[in-house]
This record gives sequence, C-alpha cells and structure tokens, in this order.
Amino acid sequence: MKRTHTQHRRRRTLGAALCALAVTAGGGVIAATGTASAQAAERVDNPYVGAKQYVNPEWSAKAAAEPGGGAVAGEPTGVWLDRIAAIEGAGDTMGLRDHLDTALQQDADVIQLVIYNLPGRDCAALASNGELGPTEIGRYKTEYIDPIARILDDAKYEDLRIVTTVEIDSLPNLVTNTGGRATATPECDTMLANGNYVKGVGYALNKLGDVGNVYNYVDAGHHGWIGWDDNFATSARVFHQAATAEGSTVDDVHGFITNTANYSALKEENFTINDSVGGRSVRESQWVDWNRYTDTLSFTQAFRRQLVSTGFNSDIGMLIDTSRNGWGGSERPSGPGPQTNVDSYVDEGRYDRRIHIGNWCNQSGAGLGERPQAAPESGIDAYVWMKPPGESDGSSKEIPNPDGKGFDRMCDPTYNGNPRNGYNPSGALPDAPISGHWFSAQFQELLKNAHPAL
Ligand code: BGC
Repeated sequence: MKRTHTQHRRRRTLGAALCALAVTAGGGVIAATGTASAQAAERVDNPYVGAKQYVNPEWSAKAAAEPGGGAVAGEPTGVWLDRIAAIEGAGDTMGLRDHLDTALQQDADVIQLVIYNLPGRDCAALASNGELGPTEIGRYKTEYIDPIARILDDAKYEDLRIVTTVEIDSLPNLVTNTGGRATATPECDTMLANGNYVKGVGYALNKLGDVGNVYNYVDAGHHGWIGWDDNFATSARVFHQAATAEGSTVDDVHGFITNTANYSALKEENFTINDSVGGRSVRESQWVDWNRYTDTLSFTQAFRRQLVSTGFNSDIGMLIDTSRNGWGGSERPSGPGPQTNVDSYVDEGRYDRRIHIGNWCNQSGAGLGERPQAAPESGIDAYVWMKPPGESDGSSKEIPNPDGKGFDRMCDPTYNGNPRNGYNPSGALPDAPISGHWFSAQFQELLKNAHPAL
C-alpha cells in the first residue's frame, strides 16, 4: 500500500499472477519496466495466498524430537523477538538475519515475526514481564524497533512477505485493566498514563510499515477479553489511536490478529449467542456472562467490521492463532448440552473446556487447532500458529530466571485468587517452565487433544 517493493526474478510467475489480479480487482496498473526484476508491486491483499511459509528450524527440531511430533514439525510458527538480544540471537540461538536467510534458503514466501518487547510489558500479568521498564520507550525505539526495521529493509529480503504480529496483550490492557475497574493494576494504569504502549505500537507500525514488504498485523486480544460491550468499541478506538501515533497511519496496518497464544475455540457449533433455554438467553449463562460472542471466528469477523467503522481501511484482513484452540480428545462434547437450564446447555455443549474463559496459562485439556491455512473464511487472511505449540506460557512455581520474567499465579494449578477469572482455579498444567521455554508435557497434551485430530 504505502510503498512498493521490487519483484525479483525468482518471483516471476507469482509476480505476474499478482499483477494480473491487481489490475482486474483494483483497476490500477502496476508499473512494469520490461524485466521482471525491475517490476514494482504493491503489497498483495492477502500475503498468505499461494505462499510457502517459513518453518522455524529451532521450533521444528523440538517438535520433531517429541514422540508423535513429526506429524506437525513441518508447520510454520511465529518467530518471537521477545528481547533485544533476540535480534542478534543469544548464544547458539538464531537471530533475525539467521531466520530471514534460512527463509530464503527454504524458498519461502512468508515469514512470521512477533514484535514483543514494549516498555512495561504484560502489565496485567507477570509471566511475560519484559526487559524494558515502563519509561524505557527510548530504548524500545532505538535498540529494538530501529535495528529490526534496518534488517528487514535489506534488499536481500525484499521478496519475502514479512508478517509481523505487533505487541500482543498490550493495547486491550489499557481498556480493561485500568481506571476504576476491579481488574485494574497499577502497572496498566502507569502504561495508560505515560502513553508508552500507544507510542510504542505507533512507532513500530510506522517504522516497520516503511519497509515495503512488511505486513503489520496488530494484536487484538480475543473474544473472552474484548467481546463484551464495554470493551469492544473502546478497544477499536484505542487501536486507532495507536495506529495514528508516532507517524503511523492506518495504511501501516495490514490487519489484526486475534487469539494469539490464547485458547478460545474457533467455532462453538453446539450453541449460538441467539439461543435461549427456559426463557434465558445463552448470554445469561455463567460461561458466556453477557459476552456478545461465543467463539473466536464470530468475534474476529465482527471486530473486523468494527475496526473498519472506526477508521481502518476496508480491506484489512484478520489472522487467527489456532495453535492451541482445538479442544479435541475424549472430553470434546459430541452434541448440544441438555435443555434443562441455560448453564447445562452451554457447559455440556461447549468445546472450550476451560474452567473459566479468563484462564490463559498452559491450559489443561487443550489441543492443537486448525493447521495453518490461507483464506479459510470471509475476512480472515489465515489461520496461523503464532504461538509455537509446546512453548510454555509461564512457570507453575516461582523459578529464578535471567529473562526478567515474573511468576504469575495464573500458571499455578492450585491458585484461585484472581478477579479476572472470577476467582476460579487457573486450570494450568503443573510443572511448567518459564514462559517461552519448551514444555514437553504440554506438547504431548496438545498432540493428544488436537482437533482436527492428527
Ligand atoms: C514469552 C516469550 C516467548 C513466547 C513464545 C511468551 O509468553 O514471554 O518469551 O517467546 O511466549 O513462546
């Protein structure tokens, strides 16, 4: 949209097809100067269509080493740049250039990066607290975003479509965990007051959006977070505020991603939001609790419309993280729940087997969801596995770590003291390592409970 990039020879066929498509659909003519290598192309509407995706060899090796893991080890997953050191790669881990170079070797068209290092990161939780303090917006810009943008701008990578997931779990926190709400935290109030989440996201979108082959997707939480009336439109407005901060414009936003690293079922097929039992709406059930949405897909499509009506471009596309929302296995209901009362109807019919929809850490019973795929539904650019399955959400006990991560008791299976999940048990698996570290027992569960089954 905003900038063009040059198509190289290797992309002649796809480039030509895309040019044809652009002319037919948009009526606009793409500049062609005779040779394929000099052709300039707009960003494509959906970067996933017809594209081969990069497989992260580091994740793939861990998955392949697990019994049964070979069934999914070839799937594309997100590369998380979760600290400054991840850009160069610490120790013998791959840095950003290593990933991009390997993507070229794989002859991949798409690589998926997660931009995740805001100042005061994870203000409503502790398990993914980051290295930058609440005021360190300067370091975020100069030591994190600028170096990433410089690398991505290398002409060597201009044929890759670089998908970025921008700052998960940040902006919705400014809506739901601030002010007079029971769920407010001092840390989120600080990030609202100092504006550094909004500035950081705006800066990232602007700088990364200047690279013509980057496709920015902003994280938009999930339905069990912003699907309620008091969060839905307000969140869209905060996203718009961030997307127009620090030199960013809505043209820097290719779309949004939902359910990143979360567990919300893609489609609940045994009940709809319009059903009622004994005169009581599904919305009155304890599980739904007045939310407008019962699943990720319906929420994501509706939120896309809300974003467009709030000022985002009408051609934005959505991604859905389906890495861990399969909920298959023996506990998966085979049909609707009984019509005795609305709670039994919902609880015995729902695929999402969490104790409470606010639970987010290493959920017991979860399975791999739909495999990554392009354009699966209207408005959805792709199902993706942005959270690499098998990587922990947080440690179940306090473990010292060099990453600046805290211990969040939502990852402790014995905990039930959080207003954000109605003081229900956390539903987390025991014996979990620090967030981002390999959690073999969870990976085994995800394989066992995969839906579609492997
Ligand atoms: C962690 C990151 C990790 C990511 C992917 C997050 O919860 O904080 O360090 O890279 O998950 O597993």
